[in-house]
Amino acid sequence: MMIIRPEKKKDYTAIYKVNELAFGGRAEADLVDDLRKTDGFIPELSLVAIHNQELIGHILFSPIAIKSKKSVTSALALAPMAVHPEFQNKGVGSKLAVRGLEDCRRLGHSIVVVIGHPGYYPRFGFLPARDRGLNVPFPVPDEAFMVMELVPGALKAAQGEIIYPPPFQKMS
Ligand SMILES: CC(C)(COP(=O)(O)OP(=O)(O)OC[C@H]1O[C@@H](n2cnc3c(N)ncnc32)[C@H](O)[C@@H]1OP(=O)(O)O)[C@@H](O)C(=O)NCCC(=O)NCCS
Repeated sequence: MMIIRPEKKKDYTAIYKVNELAFGGRAEADLVDDLRKTDGFIPELSLVAIHNQELIGHILFSPIAIKSKKSVTSALALAPMAVHPEFQNKGVGSKLAVRGLEDCRRLGHSIVVVIGHPGYYPRFGFLPARDRGLNVPFPVPDEAFMVMELVPGALKAAQGEIIYPPPFQKMS
């Protein structure tokens, strides 16, 4: 049995650990801690997977903006996402992603971007983002930069450069 729920304060250390273990380094774990301190942080969109009372996975969605010459559109970035190495390839990440995207939609968000494995995220509905007129301020291969509309047509009015919160800029 696995429970997926928003993070609680008591989860912070285990969230740090699962990110550190999954990525084999502290950068993503530190990113989560830094994003938690930003004004826009949405605790409901920092979800954890619990199995036998152990935290085995985590996913975070953070507010970003899509800025064109004419407009600024609010959106979310999925990052990071981590599953404990002993529990990978058992569907935990998929459950976190599906539930997370549902919660994003329920909370009124309409666009999610991700920079990640091009063999993984399309199964949830992500498509190449540069084809849709989006750009990132980091050097990222075309196929790794993806976007998903939670509301059909949301991207029609949203094209331009993604503006990330400062903690992401430290990562690039
Ligand atoms: C990527 C990750 C979150 C996926 O979670 P998971 O619970 O292992 O994934 P699921 O069981 O839901 O899905 C398994 C699928 O993911 C694929 N997958 C897992 N890791 C992958 C990777 N690094 N690149 C591409 N695909 C990957 C598997 O090949 C499998 O594909 P299949 O269903 O076609 O056989 C997890 O493997 C992880 O924490 N990896 C290390 C950290 C990381 O890379 N995070 C994502 C950054 S973009």
